[in-house]
Amino acid sequence: MSRPAPVRSAVFPVAGRGTRFLPATKASPKEMLPIVDKPLIQYAVEEALAAGARNLVFITGSSKRAIEDHFDSDPELEAALEAQGKRDLLETVRGILPSWASCIYIRQPAPLGLGHAVLCARPVVGQEPFFVHLADDLIDARVPVLKQMADAYGERGGSFVGVQSVPRSETD
Ligand code: UTP
Repeated sequence: MSRPAPVRSAVFPVAGRGTRFLPATKASPKEMLPIVDKPLIQYAVEEALAAGARNLVFITGSSKRAIEDHFDSDPELEAALEAQGKRDLLETVRGILPSWASCIYIRQPAPLGLGHAVLCARPVVGQEPFFVHLADDLIDARVPVLKQMADAYGERGGSFVGVQSVPRSETD
């Protein structure tokens, strides 16, 4: 039996309104909330790239411009850091996304739910295997969860869902 093709696409549904985090998420996406010195979405992207993804498909909605800006180059900022001799910060900013990774943005026309957001990725993902990563679940695991799932998929094929036990009081 041939091994399944490697997973090269990662879908990040980021079009939700983030109402549970209001007022922090009124004007800025919850995926941009920082943990130490990086926004949540950057941890998610790094985990997907480390697990083999090359195509990063963001399903965005209204007020999500900050996510696109975060992964775009910023020549003005880079020029300012260079002029100030801040080489470390310049490298940090330039290293947010490796040159071999591609970002694709698809707009979900209305927040019609997570399933609909994933379906919006169909025109670019097609029949290929793909990750779906919810950036607001940051999991600190010895072997990152997407890598665990990619390895399991590589061995057995099929679909995998990462789940976590939570108290019933947190299931609303
Ligand atoms: P959540 O239910 O956690 O996100 O959806 P939400 O809708 O932003 O949260 P609350 O309940 O209002 O606080 C899980 C993931 O699915 C995305 C969200 O951005 C989140 O990453 N999502 C949800 C979409 O992309 N589109 C939707 O219509 C709904």
